[in-house]
Amino acid sequence: MENITITSNFTVYPSVADLPADVNALMSDAVAVRKNAYAPYSKFQVGAAIELDNGKVVLGSNQENAAYPSGLCAERVAIFHAGAIYPDAKIVKMAITAASSQRMVDAPIPPCGACRQSIAEYELRQDIPIEIWFMGETGEIYRSESLKNLLPMVFGGKDL
Ligand code: THU
Repeated sequence: MENITITSNFTVYPSVADLPADVNALMSDAVAVRKNAYAPYSKFQVGAAIELDNGKVVLGSNQENAAYPSGLCAERVAIFHAGAIYPDAKIVKMAITAASSQRMVDAPIPPCGACRQSIAEYELRQDIPIEIWFMGETGEIYRSESLKNLLPMVFGGKDL
């Protein structure tokens, strides 16, 4: 019998003013597209901005549905959009921001488990990691150098 310990590493930035300029710009795109969220049920608006290796930025916001599970998170709207429009491009980084109509979201909001699995599929099929940067509406920003920090022991095509 043995134990396996898996560690995850994140870098914490105090505020958007402390971000590298390119990430600050990508996060600004995520903040802007957050306003397009259709979130009448949760009143929780999420924006995601993806930078591709071809220089393009692809955006997404959460889109809800009266039949709740039929809605989709911002991160998956964005990454499926990127895959649909630029199938050969690699994803370099993703910036995520969340706000609520009901409270001030002042702590980083990580992507949900289903989004982590979806992002993992894209990271596993390319040869570079995807940087994930996430925040609330204000406050600290967390950076992960790879999706793997958010989804250790990932399930992928190799397991089939
Ligand atoms: N949501 C996202 O867009 N991304 C996440 O990673 C977490 C949750 C959305 C889904 C739903 O529209 C609302 O936030 C509340 O769960």
